[in-house]
Amino acid sequence: MTLEQQDKQYVLQTYARDYTNFVKGLGSTLYDEDGKDYIDFASGIGVNSVGHGNEKLTEAICEQAKNIIHISNLQVIEPQAKLAQKIVELSGYNMGIFFANSGAEANEGAIKIARKYGETKFNHKRYKVITLEHSFHGRTITTVKATGQESFHTPHFSPYPDGFSYEKSIEDVYTAIDNETVAVLIELVQGEGGVQPFEKAEIQKLATHLKQEGILLIVDEVQTGVFRTGEFLASNLYEIEPDIITLAKGLGGGVPIGAVMTKHKDILSAGDHGSTFGGNYLSTAAGNAVLDVLKEMYDTGAIGETLLYFSQKLEDIATRYENLFEKEVGLGLMRGLRAKSAEIQTEIIKRSMAEGLVVLKAGRNTVRFLPSITISKNEIDEGFKRFETVISTL
Ligand SMILES: Cc1ncc(COP(=O)(O)O)c(C=O)c1O
Repeated sequence: MTLEQQDKQYVLQTYARDYTNFVKGLGSTLYDEDGKDYIDFASGIGVNSVGHGNEKLTEAICEQAKNIIHISNLQVIEPQAKLAQKIVELSGYNMGIFFANSGAEANEGAIKIARKYGETKFNHKRYKVITLEHSFHGRTITTVKATGQESFHTPHFSPYPDGFSYEKSIEDVYTAIDNETVAVLIELVQGEGGVQPFEKAEIQKLATHLKQEGILLIVDEVQTGVFRTGEFLASNLYEIEPDIITLAKGLGGGVPIGAVMTKHKDILSAGDHGSTFGGNYLSTAAGNAVLDVLKEMYDTGAIGETLLYFSQKLEDIATRYENLFEKEVGLGLMRGLRAKSAEIQTEIIKRSMAEGLVVLKAGRNTVRFLPSITISKNEIDEGFKRFETVISTL
């Protein structure tokens, strides 16, 4: 039985999978079972923030695994407390953190905090959460309902929870707020929706308005967080102070972890929320190592340099291949090329894989780049060389 047959027989077929069998990774280079190398411009959809086989991360994981992998959340967990402090200090916000295992779970936590806030802080319960069209917030029944893409709300999984509505633009949010609205949930750069950043001024204006109205601003930083946009959080870059922020993807460097942080530290009390695995020794040891690696790079200016280098390469491609791309989009190391058609996007992604380059799709027609924050200049050069080989034949 081939690997593909085994997968098809025993794994539920919820993904339209590629069957390249990667067996090793080093930095931003992946190797398949035949030893062929691939430049990784995807980092597991923004997860391998410090690349593959990072020494500090793998050592931290191995050391932790030798001692304790898991003890329940009924006991204090030292690396969890350390990671919480590190995240809070890096963010610059006075917040408390709950650890989960994924982005969707982090957003579930955010929605629970918002709903309890809506129950306890107002005379009559507020529970409605406004999100934006083209957003993506996860795949659980609630977070899929929070996702502003009708195609995700298939009747197969109905009924969905009440209390979510979707607006076309930030401007529309103002008029959508009613006396049952408790929160607005947004990504600052819509990732899955097409790598679309919002204007700083319009986000700052919204944040000020929500604060005046006593409505919570929840920023989903599952994809934008952990230095992806150049700052620790995109909220730092946008210079806003959200009420609730969610993180996941890059935080564990590949070890599953999610986090919801809020300045409303008194809302959840014992018994309100929980997770068997969330914030265990292994995932938080990984999170500590990831943040140590990335903070050092941030402090030396290395992240800024990488970001600039990657941007210049991308801009160069966008201007020289106007026949294929409308424009270049995104922020930091969360980038995209808006292709002139969905067919061009599909063809580029398929041919890139054959050429030894992993890139992603986003939205209807965007070719997406989410490289590791630690990617080297050589790997960026090589990746774009391969990319150009692909697009020059289209
Ligand atoms: C902005 C955003 N929120 C939430 C999620 C869901 O995260 P997870 O797949 O870890 O549940 C994603 C995943 O792509 C995301 O990009």
